[in-house]
Amino acid sequence: MHPKAIFLLLVLVHCESHSIRSNLVDEGFLTDPRYLNYDEVTNLLKKLEAEHPEIAKLRSVGRSVRNRELWALEINRNVENRTLMTPMFKFVANMHGDESVGRQLMIYLAQYLIYNYGKDERVTRLVNTTDIFLMPSMNPDGYENSQEGLCESKPGYVGRENENSKDLNRDFPDQFDPVRTGTILSGRQPETVALMTWIISRPFVLSGNLHGGAVVASYPYDDSNTKRQCCRESRSPDNDLFKKLALTYSQSHPLMREGKACKNDDFDQGVTNGAFWYEVRGGMQDFNYVHSNCFEVTFELSCCKFPPASTLPKEWTNNKESMLRFMEASHWGVKGLVTNANDEAVLDADVVVVGIAHNVTTSNKGEYWRLLLPGEYEIYATAYGYRPSDLVKVVVEAGRTAVRNFTLQRTPPEKDDYKVVLNRTEPPFDQYGFVSSDSHLFEHHHYDKMVQFLKDFNASYPNITYLHSIGKSVQGRDLYVMVLGSTPHKHVPGVPEFKYIANMHGNEVVGRELLLYLVKYLCERYQTDERVTRILDTTRVHLMPSMNPDGYEIAREGDDSSAVGRGNAKNIDLNRNFPDQYVVNQFNRLIEPETKAVMDWILSEPFVLSANLHNGALVANYPYDDNPVGQSGENLSPDDAIFKFLAHTYSDAHKSMHEGQPCPLFPQERFKGGITNGAKWYSVSGGMQDWNYLVAGCMELTLEIGCYKYPYAKSLPQYWLNNRDALLAYAEQVHRGVHGFVRSTIGRPIVGAKVIVEGVSHYVKSHKDGDYYRILLPGKYNLTIEALGYESYTNEIEVPAEGTLDYNVSLMKDDQLHWASAYDFGIDENQYHPKYHTNQELYGVMAQLENRYPDTAAFQSGDDYVSMTLRSLKITDQVSFFVHFSRSS
Ligand SMILES: *[C@@H]1O[C@H](CO)[C@@H](O)[C@H](O)[C@H]1NC(C)=O
Ligand SMILES: *[C@@H]1O[C@H](CO)[C@@H](O)[C@H](O)[C@H]1NC(C)=O
Ligand SMILES: *[C@@H]1O[C@H](CO)[C@@H](O)[C@H](O)[C@H]1NC(C)=O
Ligand SMILES: *[C@@H]1O[C@H](CO)[C@@H](O)[C@H](O)[C@H]1NC(C)=O
Ligand SMILES: *[C@@H]1O[C@H](CO)[C@@H](O)[C@H](O)[C@H]1NC(C)=O
Ligand SMILES: *[C@@H]1O[C@H](CO)[C@@H](O)[C@H](O)[C@H]1NC(C)=O
Ligand SMILES: *[C@@H]1O[C@H](CO)[C@@H](O)[C@H](O)[C@H]1NC(C)=O
Ligand SMILES: *[C@@H]1O[C@H](CO)[C@@H](O)[C@H](O)[C@H]1NC(C)=O
Ligand SMILES: *[C@@H]1O[C@H](CO)[C@@H](O)[C@H](O)[C@H]1NC(C)=O
Repeated sequence: MHPKAIFLLLVLVHCESHSIRSNLVDEGFLTDPRYLNYDEVTNLLKKLEAEHPEIAKLRSVGRSVRNRELWALEINRNVENRTLMTPMFKFVANMHGDESVGRQLMIYLAQYLIYNYGKDERVTRLVNTTDIFLMPSMNPDGYENSQEGLCESKPGYVGRENENSKDLNRDFPDQFDPVRTGTILSGRQPETVALMTWIISRPFVLSGNLHGGAVVASYPYDDSNTKRQCCRESRSPDNDLFKKLALTYSQSHPLMREGKACKNDDFDQGVTNGAFWYEVRGGMQDFNYVHSNCFEVTFELSCCKFPPASTLPKEWTNNKESMLRFMEASHWGVKGLVTNANDEAVLDADVVVVGIAHNVTTSNKGEYWRLLLPGEYEIYATAYGYRPSDLVKVVVEAGRTAVRNFTLQRTPPEKDDYKVVLNRTEPPFDQYGFVSSDSHLFEHHHYDKMVQFLKDFNASYPNITYLHSIGKSVQGRDLYVMVLGSTPHKHVPGVPEFKYIANMHGNEVVGRELLLYLVKYLCERYQTDERVTRILDTTRVHLMPSMNPDGYEIAREGDDSSAVGRGNAKNIDLNRNFPDQYVVNQFNRLIEPETKAVMDWILSEPFVLSANLHNGALVANYPYDDNPVGQSGENLSPDDAIFKFLAHTYSDAHKSMHEGQPCPLFPQERFKGGITNGAKWYSVSGGMQDWNYLVAGCMELTLEIGCYKYPYAKSLPQYWLNNRDALLAYAEQVHRGVHGFVRSTIGRPIVGAKVIVEGVSHYVKSHKDGDYYRILLPGKYNLTIEALGYESYTNEIEVPAEGTLDYNVSLMKDDQLHWASAYDFGIDENQYHPKYHTNQELYGVMAQLENRYPDTAAFQSGDDYVSMTLRSLKITDQVSFFVHFSRSS
């Protein structure tokens, strides 16, 4: 537009509104301009809205410490109801109260856009297609404390900071901050909270943050994970795009593009990576990119922070084209809708560009906007509960927005193929509980025979077994695990994982044989015996008959008590080889292959309960197994009561363990009730049991299931009969306590949430589908669920005498859409449809509230207290408390 045209336009305005616009109008704008204070800005913005209601709408985003409104003027062809897929843009100025050029430019820009709408083609197109928000001041209090003509802030940064002397551009959550306690909003300034909420709850696409004190366009990241002050780039995944956005501004700015406007400036083409220039922790720019879909660039507009008003016309001319071009960049890249098969919007879907590690997510209308440089891309959309879409090729051209819509298909529900149908007549079982047991069953199974045994059952019972090797021993033998259950191949969220590991000491062989018998017992009785069927339908049972197959081959039948074959092929005791909570020593400094394989495997499944089968004694041993250096004797874990209960469960169900009688080889050793604390019995550091509990969150006991280490085969049937019911009873304890799912309020599973029982200094974590399992004794507990980025949740629960409490928890996100709802008094309805309400809509909502809560809410219009035009909602039946709603407050 020709400068003359602006001039004429402003003259026109002059006639209508003398006080405010006079400065802009005549040479005014050019020769005698003036900064507007808070009241003047407020009046001007209200006037613009009143005079151009079809394209201008004044919003308040929140209030400053001194209760000043944080105004944002929305300018768009359809301000009442943003047209689908219209991108949202914002400029935020005057975050530092004394950096005032941007503030004034917003006032000019608002008028420029409004007055030229319908007259200038470029402006009209921009306002037609872009939902523009201009915030002249994010820090109105600081501005009022600043002084025109001061190029640096007043002493003590008065004016730069807000009323509480806080630098707002250091007050945002930062991706490189150490984790802090409390919610993400706690302890932050009201201006910051207002902006955070606004940024997160509206689908902004692009933003400019206007500052002063230099002349440069600075792009993310502003911070890095180093402790440096400057001079190293910290690149975001969208670095090239950001640089181009910054250049778009700087190249149209006659001073900025030179990069040398101010005394110390030396910026290549007038742009810089933020961290390269100097590091800012807690800035708004990075917050936009990391926590929302919005890309923000910071523009430093003037060397002097609060220059004399006489410079403003020049600033307007220097920045006008840059600002327009930057706003137009809201249309770069690709946009579209993500819907499901029923044509409903899919909210919070990820739109992924292959090769760029930064996703955008869909708005509550299913819209997405992905800024991209010209080029060819592959993109797809995916959302929780849906299958990812196919990859789509998109060609992005300069100056055009590509449009790609996605339709997502729901993931089908899990099929329960093998659920119990107890309809067979019981076959006759033999005295050991098997359909039949041939003469070879009760022989010791050396490696080849053991593998054959497992493979036979794997082949005969394909629906309920899964045989796999989790690694190899030193001598290359496979470490086999047989998984049994109605869905043996994979973890089903909500179904707990249980395991038995035997023969960790190669010469303690009873457990190895018993686990093979247990495979046979479970397979043969599934769908015939109700107990076995229930176990396999509700639990995934993992049986590892031998963790130390090499040691086993060295050990000798009939050896009651020696150490031959105890260690692995390198003669390392595997039950001293795990990382220990107290010590690192010669036995666990180097992790053996068997140990490594078992650790990896344990961490790969969400195991809940476990036992480690040894023999050479007869006792159920519970944590801890050792002591801090320099101490000895009993050392109890925070879950001691449960561990004792679990130990008793095994011991009581065993034919004789609970009697606590000594083994013939150790006549002095008696265990009351057949259980003992590990450390009290004798100290074992580097044991598997404590590692399971402390690291993997799996409760494990060490079960000594017989007095002799390598008994002759003829006693195996008796060992089986002594332990069979105990093995089943112990496995059943996995269904004790509380379990459920931790999800966000929109149903996304939360992994790694801490499940904390009040008074117990040990917690379990939720797994990748959000499922968690916490074994507890019956009774009442205060349960807290905590997850990073979510509000934590505490409630009293009651664990039943038998079985588990099924308890799901939804956590409210500390960010994203959900703050808005917390802010909106936590009303669910607001959460999914955050929006500004028109008067008409507001009345509708109020009327609905009256219908829903007739006893406490009355929607009324025009009575003694309230004028006809302002309708009100009366809450409580005491005619004393009114809530007024109106458009302008
Ligand atoms: C907003 O526009 C959409 C179509 O773009 C329409 O379905 C909806 O009813 C409109 N809402 C209001 C309040 O006008
Ligand atoms: C802007 O929108 C108006 C109203 O829909 C339309 O008449 C006009 O042609 C549009 N102008 C441009 C430049 O897009
Ligand atoms: C993007 O979304 C995909 C699919 O949900 C996810 O696998 C990936 O981790 C996300 N990338 C980032 C950087 O968050
Ligand atoms: C995407 O969906 C919108 C809304 O249904 C529709 O107007 C538009 O034509 C679609 N675009 C493409 C490229 O399919
Ligand atoms: C179980 O067997 C009974 C009698 O043989 C039969 O009536 C019933 O339909 C069967 N139930 C199922 C679920 O197959
Ligand atoms: C177990 O049985 C399945 C199906 O019969 C077969 O595909 C698989 O190879 C077997 N696994 C082993 C380790 O033999
Ligand atoms: C395995 O399940 C399938 C499908 O339910 C069934 O047809 C088949 O008979 C089952 N096989 C065995 C060995 O139980
Ligand atoms: C749970 O916490 C509340 C509040 O502190 C307390 O009154 C209640 O007794 C606690 N319940 C249990 C089982 O500890
Ligand atoms: C918890 O969520 C799971 C999975 O969605 C569901 O199957 C179960 O019924 C829910 N439990 C309760 C008590 O709502």
